[in-house]
Amino acid sequence: MSRLAGVDLQPIFDSRGQATVEATVLLSSGARGTAGAPSGASTGRHEVRPFPADGVPGALRAFRERVRPKLLGTEAQIAAVDAALRTADGTSDFSGIGGNPATALSVATALALAEEGGRPLWRLLARPGVDGTAFPAIVGNCLNGGRHAIGGPDIQEFLAIARDPRPERSIGAALQVHARIGAALRARSPEAALGRGDEGGWVARLTNVEAFELLREACDRVRDERKVDVRPGVDLAAAEFFRDGRYRYREQTLDSDGQVAFVAGLVDRFGLAYVEDPFDQEAFDAHAELQRAVGSRALVVGDDLYTTRADRFRRGIERKSTGAILIKVNQVGTLTETFGTVDLARTSRLATVTSHRSGELPEGWLAHVALASGAWGLKCGLLGGERVAKLNELLRLGRAAPP
Ligand code: PGA
Ligand code: ZN
Repeated sequence: MSRLAGVDLQPIFDSRGQATVEATVLLSSGARGTAGAPSGASTGRHEVRPFPADGVPGALRAFRERVRPKLLGTEAQIAAVDAALRTADGTSDFSGIGGNPATALSVATALALAEEGGRPLWRLLARPGVDGTAFPAIVGNCLNGGRHAIGGPDIQEFLAIARDPRPERSIGAALQVHARIGAALRARSPEAALGRGDEGGWVARLTNVEAFELLREACDRVRDERKVDVRPGVDLAAAEFFRDGRYRYREQTLDSDGQVAFVAGLVDRFGLAYVEDPFDQEAFDAHAELQRAVGSRALVVGDDLYTTRADRFRRGIERKSTGAILIKVNQVGTLTETFGTVDLARTSRLATVTSHRSGELPEGWLAHVALASGAWGLKCGLLGGERVAKLNELLRLGRAAPP
């Protein structure tokens, strides 16, 4: 059994230019792994703290004083390293050492172990019964609003949900939906400036309904042309515009019942296959109402509602709040906790969607987490090196899959 012979943590920048950290883990066998941790902008209230109170400098200090001494000599096992990170931290929300340093160290350890064993990361992480031949749907970000865009709609993400056994077909279809929407926006306002948001989706002055219309039209065309099942989806990130018990859109203000009716209406009108965070992050019962109304037609997904935490997800399972959970490693800080939640979904026969963050790094390990989880979907932007890195890694895994 090898041990941790060296660990390092260094500051780097994410795709928004914000400071985060990258970890390197060296095993006594000579194997090495390096990974960085992404950052969110529309973060859930129940996520771990990404950094101690004074940010990256505090994380580097905590690493030198508390983390490195604990990790050096630890058995080279993901569970042992993650347990040592929790002990070094000593808080419930990772505010001692930071959830981002913990994420980077946990994933770097896994990558070093994969290298040591001469096998791909997904095999090391694979859940029982996962053989690497079932590829996730692509949940691809096409139009940005909310906190990820300036001047766009107030709904955060308009998504193309592309499902095909072969990743090159699902990725190709999602990319074509993105491209078609860009072409439609240019045709509609040839003089207007057109930009892209934090996750690579288009940003234009559109109402929510106009954005859904463009998305549906592009999905319909690409589905017909490519014969790939690609349908519209949405991440409302509704907690971002929920204030004093009301959902406050630019165009309307709704109470909880009004929001249930509005979102169920969107599912019917636009044929949505996927609905993420349609309510505030404490609204387990409103989610359950929507799940009862549309759950047979659309996947209702909890992101801010659960923040990848098993305890919150258990509440959602009991109340039948959603059909799926979004999985983000740095919402809980370690691979052990992440896969604990994934396993809870699997035993409860609920779907997982493995997700990027809005501030990302040009690394591909997320595709391995998705494949290893037997995830229903991989949620990822479609353009930008930090997004394409994950899509390309999924393509590679598709080529390597046994026939
Ligand atoms: P975040 O947003 O990475 O900014 O938290 C992504 C999402 O809400 O899914
Ligand atoms: Zn979300």
